[in-house]
Amino acid sequence: MREKIKNNVYWIGKIDWELTKFHGDDYTITHGSSQNAYLIEEEKTILIDTVWSPHKDEFIENLEKEIDLDKLDAIIVQHGEVDHSGGLPLLMERRPDLPIYCTANGVKSLVGQFHHPEWDYRVVKTGDSLNVGPGKDLVFVEMAMLHWPDSMASYLTGDNILFSNDAFGQHIAVGELYNDKADQCLLFSEAIKYYANILTPFQAIAKKKLAEVVAMNLPIEIIAPSHGVIWRDNPLQIVLKYIEWSDQYKEDQITIAYDSMWEGTKKLAHALEKHLRDIAPDTVVKVFNVAVADKNEVMTEVFKSKAIAVGSPTVSNDILSSVGGWLYFLKELRFKGKKAAAFGCYGWSGEGNKKIQELLSASGFDVVEPSVRVNWAPKDEDLDEMLLIAQALISE
Ligand code: FEO
Repeated sequence: MREKIKNNVYWIGKIDWELTKFHGDDYTITHGSSQNAYLIEEEKTILIDTVWSPHKDEFIENLEKEIDLDKLDAIIVQHGEVDHSGGLPLLMERRPDLPIYCTANGVKSLVGQFHHPEWDYRVVKTGDSLNVGPGKDLVFVEMAMLHWPDSMASYLTGDNILFSNDAFGQHIAVGELYNDKADQCLLFSEAIKYYANILTPFQAIAKKKLAEVVAMNLPIEIIAPSHGVIWRDNPLQIVLKYIEWSDQYKEDQITIAYDSMWEGTKKLAHALEKHLRDIAPDTVVKVFNVAVADKNEVMTEVFKSKAIAVGSPTVSNDILSSVGGWLYFLKELRFKGKKAAAFGCYGWSGEGNKKIQELLSASGFDVVEPSVRVNWAPKDEDLDEMLLIAQALISE
């Protein structure tokens, strides 16, 4: 089944309603997703990307219902990650002579994953193009580190469609395909979750690349990413969001993330919440126990925050594994321009706060003092002391 997008351009992907996780277990999918591939039938017949490996048979069957595979002139592999290249080996079994247009890093990625150095790779760089019919060229734009070294986008002149691959995507299933058909709240909450959890480490690159794409002054009527909706209604709205998000984005929000053994550290977390509400009533404050909260949702809240506070009791001279694992994920995302504080209870040695501070500092946060370290169960004066953290996080 294919869906016409414009003139001779079709969507031919997979709406994945059953998907619940992505990147192994590293990204929680709560509203389905899609792997969007596209078919261009001009003088040349061109496929842009495929789908995730488990859907490869269905994908090739669908494709064969629409076109004679022998008519296919080329495939554009915009990114080697298997959610987009998973159908490639089966396609190449059927058409071993098919030219594969990709970046130099794309060749490395595809050979590394599928072990076929003999395939007909055609390496492209930014500005290279492939004529597909009268007045229709696919112009390639390297998008290195957005979010893999091999990533690229393709722009179809004449139809003014930007095939953006992962950029501008979201993990959401929308059978009607288009942004104006999606639940808008859900769409933008999934778009920011996707940006926060996948693209944050590459913000500086994203900012530069967005400026480069804007400077190209391309007329863009449709942005067709490889996940989620196709942006046809005011497509530049998602570009403007990305420009905003790539500039050390923060709202007037503070997020508290903790785990607790016998509820002492939990009491500190909620004391901090109360102090923040008292001294900064306009600031949004959110509290999560990272042992039970969805880590991608918490990271999205961190992305929106101007400051965070992280708490763990000291356990065997260290911190709880729930908080430690969460902090390593935080480090991976390389946030910038945000404050952070540490707190926690201890019985004997009390190194937890120092460990948290070290990880926060290594993660790019501006660690503020004091940290609040409470011996045994918190007393009223300990809960009062959390005010000092609230003041440090709020101060400009
Ligand atoms: Fe959607 Fe980076 O793969």
